Amino acid sequence: MIKIAPSILSADFAFLADEIKKIEAAGADWVHIDVMDGLFVPNLTFGAPVVQKIRKVTDLFFDCHLMVENPEKYIEDFKKAGADQIVVHAEATKHLHRCIQQIKAGNMKAGVAINPATPLAAVEEILPYVDMVLLMTVNPGFGGQSFIETMVPKVRRLAEMIKERDLAIDIQVDGGINDKTAKLVTAAGANILVAGSYVYGAEDVAQAIASLRG
Ligand code: DX5
Ligand code: ZN
Repeated sequence: MIKIAPSILSADFAFLADEIKKIEAAGADWVHIDVMDGLFVPNLTFGAPVVQKIRKVTDLFFDCHLMVENPEKYIEDFKKAGADQIVVHAEATKHLHRCIQQIKAGNMKAGVAINPATPLAAVEEILPYVDMVLLMTVNPGFGGQSFIETMVPKVRRLAEMIKERDLAIDIQVDGGINDKTAKLVTAAGANILVAGSYVYGAEDVAQAIASLRG
């Protein structure tokens, strides 16, 4: 089953509640929430207080992608704000295993993300402890960038690593996903697709979401 997680990074922040209701009505499975600190990535977005406010407008699964240094400092705040899953970058913490344990201790789903140039070996040892691996298919920081084609074989190799270990872990991709790149990554084994500009830039949001499912 393919899940679609529209990223509110491409929403109109002045009308965030309406923008979330719009994707919910259009058949989105999750809400992808991009948290940036201006340090791990060259951009700033928002933190847990905004998540707490939007928690009131939907029951959709909140997938919080933390593009921040030392994410362990914010796990408690996001838990309180109503996160269902927290995804941390392997590159952003010295103690990834401890960080994942903290997330699980808060009864949330835990995911690990890696940037395009980070090898899969960076997540190999943490695989038994996570619910999801996020492979970035652009360099994190901005919406609307072009999909990096060489990430397709990376998705395929991750799917093999997971299968070899007999684990049940979701593979999420994030960046440059549209109706065309969605086909490439799902054929390679990705099952959760993040899409920001493709969904929020569409005339017909429901049709855009449906087109990502293939
Ligand atoms: C990028 C974010 C993405 C972003 C994707 O740093 O992690 O979630 O919103 O945007 P699109 O789908 O426009 O590439
Ligand atoms: Zn993201």
